[in-house]
Amino acid sequence: MLPTVFLRRHILPIGLLSLVLPTAGIGQATVSHADFQILNSTPRALQNPLSQLNEEQQARFTRGRALFDQLWVASPSLDTDIDGLGPTFNQSACSACHTRNGRGAPPDTDSERMRGMLVRLSLPGAEPNGTPIPHPVYGDQLQDNAILGVPAEGRARVTWIEHTETFADGESITLRRPDLILGDLAFGEPEQDLLLSPRVAPSLVGMGLLDAVPDAFLEALAQEPRPDGISGRVNRVWNAQTGTESIGRFGWKANMPTLAQQTAGAFLGDMGLTSTLYPDENCPEVQLDCIQKSSGETDVTEEQLRDVVFYQAALAVPAPGASDTGDVDIQQGRELFMQAGCQHCHIPELQTGAAALPVLSNRAFSPYTDLLLHDMGEGLADGRPDFLASGSEWRTPPLWGLGLVPTVNEHNTLLHDGRARGVMEAIMWHGGEAEPARARVKAMTTQEREKLVHFIESL
Ligand code: HEC
Ligand code: HEC
Repeated sequence: MLPTVFLRRHILPIGLLSLVLPTAGIGQATVSHADFQILNSTPRALQNPLSQLNEEQQARFTRGRALFDQLWVASPSLDTDIDGLGPTFNQSACSACHTRNGRGAPPDTDSERMRGMLVRLSLPGAEPNGTPIPHPVYGDQLQDNAILGVPAEGRARVTWIEHTETFADGESITLRRPDLILGDLAFGEPEQDLLLSPRVAPSLVGMGLLDAVPDAFLEALAQEPRPDGISGRVNRVWNAQTGTESIGRFGWKANMPTLAQQTAGAFLGDMGLTSTLYPDENCPEVQLDCIQKSSGETDVTEEQLRDVVFYQAALAVPAPGASDTGDVDIQQGRELFMQAGCQHCHIPELQTGAAALPVLSNRAFSPYTDLLLHDMGEGLADGRPDFLASGSEWRTPPLWGLGLVPTVNEHNTLLHDGRARGVMEAIMWHGGEAEPARARVKAMTTQEREKLVHFIESL
């Protein structure tokens, strides 16, 4: 159980956030930020280390960064440290999808290949431990790349279906949603009822802080009554490290419990690299070449995995760019955010417990998420359950750092499949529990909508 003081300070105010939100700093000349933040709005904004790292930690950070940016190669190779790629894979480096630690984009046209995006697969139902049931032939993710002598599983093509929405003031906005077609399938048409979920790579902002939010905090948050018929749920997922159920917090459906498991899962699923956490190569029974070309060795050592996890946890968080400059638009945008009820899911403040790095321990921070699942309606549904997350439930994504996406990644696509081109399109896709919030934005004037977007881009 959490101490009452903790609950009172951090959980209870949700309904009252519009009253208690810290406004200190706004309107003041001095710009201050927390010691885990850095003020940097260059394309490298998401790549800076925390300033408190000691020499040994700096060395680990540098090793982790090198492994994150490394283009892994097929085995056997002379570089045994960085081989074992595939047999099937999506990309050969973490940074190929999380470019400069930022986010991936979907293809613009059906002839373009997927880069910062992947497609999760499963059959209806779940394994006894809650894991989605992999397709017997294509597994749980479509690998569109493979090493020499092994067929790639196939590729997914995206075409876009557009429609127009009109705001109360007569302005309109064109929205698009992806239509996914699988092609070049190496093992024929999937006979069973295949569920697909296209997902872009999220930015890696504040991973160490999010990892260190106590489970009990999220459980308590899920109990908190909220207006507008909103009810946050925790996802309960399989923890490969402990062999038990844990609360999920990473991934678009909160389907991963820890930064370590998320990282090991990415090594295997996205790059075909095994580790002690995921020792088995990703080759379904019918993929004989894949099985034959498997190295049978553990590709990523414990130390390498730890270094990559450390690297992500030790990245400084971008400081809110302009929110402390006394900019009136931003302050008004913040008020509009509260009036629309966005903060009931994108809650401004979370709290860490003990973290591996002391500077991240027992800290309040502002990711603008509750890390919980919400039903977002049919418009955003992928129809593919992921542990407790239904086909229409998604984890509230953090909003910090969103304004840096164009600078870091030269695009501005948002939402789990990158369908939104900017913040306003993302808002207009909100449905389900977020329908009342969307309706309030729809009723705003053009100027008010601009202020709201401006505020979000300043986080
Ligand atoms: C093929 C593209 C791709 C590659 C390569 C890739 N990722 Fe990801 N990453 C994704 C996608 C897509 C998600 C969201 C997954 C989901 O929702 O299930 C993700 C999620 C994550 C998250 C969770 C972020 C959050 O906010 O919840 C972390 C951490 C992460 N990846 C780290 C890594 C690391 C470390 C590597 C290299 C070992 C890596 N990724 C390689 C596409 C990729
Ligand atoms: C009921 C909970 C809920 C409410 C209320 C809500 N959101 Fe969201 N928001 C989400 C979820 C869940 C997603 C992810 C949906 C997806 O990717 O399919 C999301 C996504 C977003 C994104 C895209 C983030 C990204 O990384 O791609 C933005 C921007 C956003 N919301 C802004 C807002 C604003 C502004 C409001 C108020 C008008 C609002 N949200 C209200 C739950 C909510």
